[in-house]
Amino acid sequence: MISGIPESTIRSINKRDIDKWNIEYFNAISKAIGKSKYIVIKEIENMEINLKSYHNKNFEELNGRYNLENRRYIGNKNKLMNWISGLLEEHTKGDSFFDVFAGTGTVSKYILPKYNKIILNDFLFSNNIIFKAFFEKRPYDKNKILKYQHLFQEIKTNSEDNNYFVDNYGGKFFSNYDAKIIGEIRTQIAKANDLNEKERSILLASLIYSLDKIANTVGHYDAYRKKENIKDKFIFELINPLNIFEKEIEIYREDSNKLARNISADIAFVDPPYNSRQYSRFYHLLENIVKWDKPILEGIAMKPPVENMSEYSKTKAPEIFDDLIRNLKVKYIVVTYNNTYKSKSNSSKNKITHEQILHSLNSIGNTQTFEIPFQFFNAGKTCLKDHKEFVFITKVK
Ligand SMILES: C[S@@+](CC[C@H](N)C(=O)[O-])C[C@H]1O[C@@H](n2cnc3c(N)ncnc32)[C@H](O)[C@@H]1O
Repeated sequence: MISGIPESTIRSINKRDIDKWNIEYFNAISKAIGKSKYIVIKEIENMEINLKSYHNKNFEELNGRYNLENRRYIGNKNKLMNWISGLLEEHTKGDSFFDVFAGTGTVSKYILPKYNKIILNDFLFSNNIIFKAFFEKRPYDKNKILKYQHLFQEIKTNSEDNNYFVDNYGGKFFSNYDAKIIGEIRTQIAKANDLNEKERSILLASLIYSLDKIANTVGHYDAYRKKENIKDKFIFELINPLNIFEKEIEIYREDSNKLARNISADIAFVDPPYNSRQYSRFYHLLENIVKWDKPILEGIAMKPPVENMSEYSKTKAPEIFDDLIRNLKVKYIVVTYNNTYKSKSNSSKNKITHEQILHSLNSIGNTQTFEIPFQFFNAGKTCLKDHKEFVFITKVK
């Protein structure tokens, strides 16, 4: 009981976090119980803190090494989130957030405290497993995960694995020794029969973060660095799953344009690829280790057969973008974009122009444009002069 009002009544007024309550709620409670609004606010804040610490005590969290954002990923919006989140706060309203091209999930993590419902989507297998590991609200046994961590850290050679990983990637993306250990861990995760889906996702995501940390690359798997001797560096470390209170989370691995037709939300965050670089080809090794169906690999970079090629990276991109915008069932559409159109490198030239984006957005509502200068990731090839990051916010009519 708080101020004489049952907790359940207060919660049913509004299930949002207290910092999102309207002042009218506090006024109404204050009037009903005859205490000043400020005392009511203080007491309810204390109740929230007590509830959270109760939840913390009753849920044993994993304290792994890797947070969601400790990952190299082209086009991730981590560094821009302070700015973007301020824009969302000021220019949109709503309870549910649809992260249509969620990538690393860093946008969803950042805005998590502000919305009741988050919908994450990305068509890559590896991103999907990472979302499940960090965001999915299913229970997991912390001690079981720690037991596997210990077991995996003790592995010195392969006893279960048939050398697929070391034969394909050893001496290229990893030292032969590290590749052997990684293959063995992946095989043991596949064979373990005491894991629920959440536990398996946590172990797989931990394997992805641990191997990505030490891979002999520049941050993606389109190529590896040519070296005589790659050092043994791999250590299996755990991720730090998010502690999610009272949030509704939905996770999808679907084509954005198909999914858009089936999801309703207040805000859609649209951050598609804009150039011809295909994410499924850049992160093929992560896709391969998650799927683990061991296809024959080809080329210098040892890529699997083509899958999940994005239409956003092809010439039809403006049409596909327009189709998405017209079919999103939301109140606000927030689009990020950077003007690498003048880039000297062909593969980083934008497939959709600033004008085409505005044309699509303006056809369904009123659009505001915001911009900041931004350092692009492949500094060498790209002309940085006038390089800007844009956010468009459209209030759908
Ligand atoms: C620019 S990245 C998103 C980055 C993300 N906002 C972040 O901060 O990490 C674009 C993402 O869209 C995904 N993608 C590309 N085409 C897609 C499609 N048709 N359907 C679903 N996901 C797609 C890619 O796998 C990639 O992760």
